[in-house]
Amino acid sequence: MTARIPTPGELDPIETASRDEISALQLSRLQWSVRHTYDNVAPYRAKCEAQGVHPDDLRTLADLSRFPFMTKADLRDNYPFGLFAVPRQQVQRLHASSGTTGKPVVVGYTRNDLNNWADLVARSIRAAGVRAGDMVHVAYGYGMFTGGLGAHYGVERLGCTVVPMSGGQTEKQVQQILDFRPDAIMVTPSYSLVIAEEFERLGISPDEISLKVGIFGAEPWGQGMRAEIERKLGIDAIDIYGLTEVMGPGVACECIETKDGPVIWEDHFYPEIIDPETGEVLPDGAEGELVFTSLTKEAFPVIRYRTRDLTRLLPPSARAFRRMDKIVGRSDDMLIVRGVNVFPTQIEEQILREPRLTGNYQIVLTRDGHLDNVEVRCELQREISGKIGRGPTEDMARALAHRIKTNIGISTLVKVMEFETLPRTQTGKARRVIDQRPKQL
Ligand code: DLL
Repeated sequence: MTARIPTPGELDPIETASRDEISALQLSRLQWSVRHTYDNVAPYRAKCEAQGVHPDDLRTLADLSRFPFMTKADLRDNYPFGLFAVPRQQVQRLHASSGTTGKPVVVGYTRNDLNNWADLVARSIRAAGVRAGDMVHVAYGYGMFTGGLGAHYGVERLGCTVVPMSGGQTEKQVQQILDFRPDAIMVTPSYSLVIAEEFERLGISPDEISLKVGIFGAEPWGQGMRAEIERKLGIDAIDIYGLTEVMGPGVACECIETKDGPVIWEDHFYPEIIDPETGEVLPDGAEGELVFTSLTKEAFPVIRYRTRDLTRLLPPSARAFRRMDKIVGRSDDMLIVRGVNVFPTQIEEQILREPRLTGNYQIVLTRDGHLDNVEVRCELQREISGKIGRGPTEDMARALAHRIKTNIGISTLVKVMEFETLPRTQTGKARRVIDQRPKQL
């Protein structure tokens, strides 16, 4: 394989269309999507009615700003299928992502939705320089997470050979890459460096590794990490963005010829940037919270879904669509630990299930090499503090770590401490998260 820039003839016509053509398509699809959601999703209709707007009010793209937002709270309140816009029998697949507590958020896809998703991932990996006939190693997790299966069907759609490896088992990953000689890899950026280190350990240099391109996402990564991955694996490293609620991977993807931020596939997703405090729409180029409206989704349409990701909209470069800048942070407290989304309140919920612990806790994040480590510090209740021995305290810590692993999916080191050991701030408000991971540059 040679990772190569697609010729205009290889692109979907809309990827090179004029802004007028794109806007016209967006408006007609937007009008359909808002009406479809209003007619079929009762909680959304109620929100519109409360705000005094109706699908008939949508005459221009700018009119969208009059419509209410959807948030993760709407998903939680309507768990599991309350925001689906088609009967469950028409839903061909479910995926899920972290909710802020207990229940995950659940999304569904019709046959057409799955078809569009495969097309958009195929478009994404073509933008990354992959071609029909190439072999693609998928090391995103398979399962309820959208990464594995989302990537998988896009790879097949482009006409490539897919290696459905999923995450973990680093030695086996590396052996398989050596034996099968794939052209491209799809994996979280942090795990790609673990794979790279295993190659180093085996004394295999970047030019002996068959990979030419890597397509990385699901967690924030900066230009420094791009340079490191490219050097250690001898590849071009491309950024792919997406989120479960909007579809999964392939909402936006960088082009290999420019590597200047993911191109948003604006024929399927209408982006806005808002001020996270006021909800006001900001002009292109201003930093704020990214909001998406789906234009073609049938089973789980989203209208003005607040992603909580902070970024900017950038003008078109390699394609006719606008781009997004790297994600610089979030407007909520969601953490991404080894590619898994975690809310502090999910951990709190597990701590509170142990009556011998107070609700006071701290989550300390550190990075060991390329991987995140999580320590959860909690406190014994006053009545038993200093009175129970080390054995029972350690058992409690182990049991809590186990509950966090099975319910949230991350490994943690739990430390059970004596009453009032954790610091209190002046205001009495606890600082729950101490993130000591180096900032991604
Ligand atoms: O992470 C979907 C995905 C899978 C994207 C594989 C790319 C590759 P969620 O688990 O719902 O979905 O997490 C979505 O992850 O709101 C961002 O905060 C973060 N995220 C995803 N892609 C990127 C990226 C998948 N390229 C959340 N850069 C999003 C920075 C990213 N953050």
